[in-house]
Amino acid sequence: MGRKKVTVVGAGHVGATTGLAIANKGLADIVLTDIIERMPQGKALDMMEATPLMGRDAEIIGTNNYVDTQGSDIVVITAGLARKPGMSRDDLLFKNAEIIGGVVDEVTKHSPNSIIIMVTNPLDVMAYLAYKKSGFPRERVIGMAGVLDSARFRTFIAMELGVSVDNTHAFVLGGHGDSMVPLPRYSTVAGVPITELMSEEQVNRIVQRTRDGGAEIVSLLGTGSAYFAPAWSVAQMVEAILLDRKEILPCAAFLQGEYGVENAYVGVPVQLGAGGMEKVFEIDLSDDERTAFEDSVAEVKDSIAKLDL
Ligand code: APR
Repeated sequence: MGRKKVTVVGAGHVGATTGLAIANKGLADIVLTDIIERMPQGKALDMMEATPLMGRDAEIIGTNNYVDTQGSDIVVITAGLARKPGMSRDDLLFKNAEIIGGVVDEVTKHSPNSIIIMVTNPLDVMAYLAYKKSGFPRERVIGMAGVLDSARFRTFIAMELGVSVDNTHAFVLGGHGDSMVPLPRYSTVAGVPITELMSEEQVNRIVQRTRDGGAEIVSLLGTGSAYFAPAWSVAQMVEAILLDRKEILPCAAFLQGEYGVENAYVGVPVQLGAGGMEKVFEIDLSDDERTAFEDSVAEVKDSIAKLDL
């Protein structure tokens, strides 16, 4: 049996860095594909030439042809446009839906047994689109959002309290956007809820910073959006799946009644293993948390409705 195969569609900032993170962890052979000619080939070769330094053995190739992606175990989708000045969120939604629709057709054709990890924004809607278009079971179409949002939350907790990031744990639920729901009660340092370690003002401040995490990076970069933390978030999901770790992580999953939600992709804690999204975990929410969660779900459903699938 050879090594596992992971395809990353879109070899831009997030896609290429995801390839690097997966290679660095030694998880699989990697195929980078993009519509731009020669660029994925160049990035893949550069990355392959870094493998002796990482001490990892992996074949990393770049391509413009889906034939090379044949039989992938996991396909990470990062293809898409970033929002440009003058472009509304809806313009972006329709443009990326067109791109993702085409990509998913190729993925289902060439890797019918793969697990799709969606990264392209607007995340929850693109994950829904991939689920509907692919016809894959919900276990095999998962959105990356919560791992990133909770990594940001963990970073801010560690910064605020001066503790190791290793001691932090955080949960962020709901849609991937302004309405996301960080859960301080379930966010801990060495097992102790942060609500017992910080003032309400401190908690509220880092919750807000987490919600604005993507925008904070965008405004600093000037052009483009975050890619280091997003890429490492994808790599953590890939690792949980390929190593069958049964790890519980917040991901966007298709809900079928869990949390009282039907027919939408929403961020919830799930178990990731060889089968993909193996289980949705339902945790108790307080009244306030439930209200915030429901508001977030309503926002996601509005966006999904616009696609008219
Ligand atoms: N097939 C393959 N690749 C495509 C396609 C397509 N149909 N359309 C566009 N691409 C490629 C672009 O050529 C580009 O190289 O997708 C890549 C996107 O890369 P960037 O523009 O660098 O964007 P990035 O920062 O990587 O973000 C990608 O991830 O986090 C999300 O919001 C982000 O939706 C965005 C996505």
